Amino acid sequence: MRITSATFVKSAFVENDWPRDSKPEIAFLGRSNVGKSSLINSLLGVRGLARTSSTPGRTQALNFFLINDKFRFVDLPGYGYARAPKEVKAKWSEAAKDYLAMRKQLALSIHIVDSRHEPTKQDLQLHDWLRHYDRRYLTVATKSDKLSNNELRRNLDYARAALGNGVLAYSSIERRGVDDVWRAIETVLKQSAG
Ligand code: GTP
Ligand code: MG
Repeated sequence: MRITSATFVKSAFVENDWPRDSKPEIAFLGRSNVGKSSLINSLLGVRGLARTSSTPGRTQALNFFLINDKFRFVDLPGYGYARAPKEVKAKWSEAAKDYLAMRKQLALSIHIVDSRHEPTKQDLQLHDWLRHYDRRYLTVATKSDKLSNNELRRNLDYARAALGNGVLAYSSIERRGVDDVWRAIETVLKQSAG
């Protein structure tokens, strides 16, 4: 996909504040600090559009970005940040669950996991929600540049056993997997246009 424009639209916690038009949305979900913002930036080929930080748990709201004036990327708050206050954690699950449960515009969810670690309990729970709400999803194992080929192969096997066969290896630094993710996005966008 050729990116002609990518702009930040807004941050929002509650449904009332979500954009109201019917443009399709691609959501990015995963553990705090897993590399969601970096993945969004690497897909778009920009730096710093989605904020990246080494402080986990920074992004607490849903962040909407408009791409090519045609569809949106939605950066959902990261879960599982152990030191987040209870209210913040509760808000996460509420906002994210609401979004997964209700959002008609949601065309594809990209579930990001850390290729270095086994899926966490919350990764498994999110996976269950995606299935429960009958959402189309793609699972992406990022930070693959930090592993040897052997380690990566072994960890992908674990991840596929827990989360299904469609787990893709990704690296925002090496841009590994960028084409695969775009192919999946283009497929759902074509279908939602047709
Ligand atoms: P929150 O929004 O705070 O939950 O984090 P996030 O999931 O958006 O993660 P973010 O993209 O901010 O990245 C977290 C840290 O991981 C940063 O220090 C990134 O530079 C690093 N990182 C992200 N993706 C990769 C990757 O593919 N490879 C490597 N080596 N580091 C990465
Ligand atoms: Mg982020």
